[in-house]
Amino acid sequence: MTMIVNVTGVSKTYGGLHHILENCSLEVQKGKRIGMVGPNGAGKSTLFRMIAGREEPDSGSIWRHPGLSIGYLSQEPEFDPAKSLLDIAMESSKELARINEELHRVEARMADPEVYGDPAKLERVLHRQELLLVEFEAAGGLAYRNRVEGTLRAFGFQEEQFHLPIGVLSGGQKKLLGLTQLLVARPDLLLLDEPDNHLDIRGKRELERLINDYPGTVVIISHDRYLLDVVATQIIEVSKGIAVLWHGNYSEFAFEKNVADASQAKAYDVQQRELKRLEASRLRLISWSSGGQNEAMIQLARNVQKRMDRMERVDRPQGSRTMALSLHGSRGSDKALEFKGLWKVFEGENGEDKEVLTDAEMLIWSREVVGLVGPNGAGKSVLFKLILGEIEPTAGEIKVGPSTTMVYYSQEHQTLNYDSIVVDEIRKLKPMYEGEAYSFLGRFMFGKNEAQKPIRALSGGEKSRLQFAKLMLTPAN
Ligand SMILES: Nc1ncnc2c1ncn2[C@@H]1O[C@H](COP(=O)(O)OP(=O)(O)OP(=O)(O)O)[C@@H](O)[C@H]1O
Ligand SMILES: [Mg+2]
Repeated sequence: MTMIVNVTGVSKTYGGLHHILENCSLEVQKGKRIGMVGPNGAGKSTLFRMIAGREEPDSGSIWRHPGLSIGYLSQEPEFDPAKSLLDIAMESSKELARINEELHRVEARMADPEVYGDPAKLERVLHRQELLLVEFEAAGGLAYRNRVEGTLRAFGFQEEQFHLPIGVLSGGQKKLLGLTQLLVARPDLLLLDEPDNHLDIRGKRELERLINDYPGTVVIISHDRYLLDVVATQIIEVSKGIAVLWHGNYSEFAFEKNVADASQAKAYDVQQRELKRLEASRLRLISWSSGGQNEAMIQLARNVQKRMDRMERVDRPQGSRTMALSLHGSRGSDKALEFKGLWKVFEGENGEDKEVLTDAEMLIWSREVVGLVGPNGAGKSVLFKLILGEIEPTAGEIKVGPSTTMVYYSQEHQTLNYDSIVVDEIRKLKPMYEGEAYSFLGRFMFGKNEAQKPIRALSGGEKSRLQFAKLMLTPAN
């Protein structure tokens, strides 16, 4: 077996307070499919960024096999919103991206009246284009583009979307695009940070297939047990600052971990009983020492104390923590939301319109809980924006019940102001004493340390929790 990544004794803190990772070690063997799991904020994304070389550990070292190429998909990938889907997908080959960009420039020049009006200039530009096309082909550009287009199609993108600017893509689609970039570049090691987040069923199936067929090594962070069962043969569990490697898929990991937790619980109980017994005997010895007169008794009591101090403590097994949720709205009556004949059409780049909603209708009664499902890019978020009044329908009208107030929990955390501090964000919504705000945030599992962070520093899961917390402060029905 060949080791390709070795993380040794890595520690990391942000802002110097508590350690995110403390003396954490792990290794990645060539060709493995590894699932990385652990609670929100455990440090999974941080580990990925360090392995990918985007961030440095405070101490410890990270060794990568010489020449190892790494492809990294971040938890919230960001792209230049003005570029087209195909351009971004092609970008993973630096060489081809350069030629491609130059081709775009040359093509733009050909449309310039100053150029096309002047035969000599035009000839020169055409010649340049010709050369670039030859260069593109020689660099394997056509085969590469075929692979890119094939992967995009496999992920459910349609031909006519290839030239759309990225800005219009849904959250799931951005993830798929990031994946496409990596899969066609075929790096030795893929680091995928929650690639399945926001994917519909079709996208998930395709993702499973691609990971299983991938010729290199894959490490994938996911909170989806099913996906990990299908793709992973090893699990790295990140928690309490360290990483532990388990062999087997997620179910095997969960089983073994249960066994391990149970035996830890047992060991903890046994140790606690022993500690109680020793403490009782220490106190007894002190009481027999006649108020400290009997030196022999005092010495024995000290020995007992030493024995207690020397015992290597078994950690208390952690039960899972849960959040307390309550949405406090006033009692509404009958219809909460209704629309009929609702249309939303976006104007396309080249005059082709994109019909997202065509004659849609829906009626939601008060107190109903409705799940909205559909493939990526079907228009679920668009519908929400219409309901919230952020965008206007092309035709039709949305009726919101008179006693209906709305809160919105967004897919991509756009409702969060990334520059503000967590606790301030809460106190802005509702006046609270500082202590009150901290204890409110505590219910959402934010420690005081997290509560003082700027929002941009939060992990993906922490941002989601904060949005929930804000939701709870907004009266809604
Ligand atoms: N730049 C930063 N400044 C301050 N704190 C940070 C920064 N980046 C991450 N953190 C903190 O480090 C901890 C670990 O974050 P990380 O994103 O690695 O968690 P994660 O395991 O990926 O969680 P999730 O499952 O929610 O994505 C979190 O408490 C987070 O708030
Ligand atoms: Mg993360």
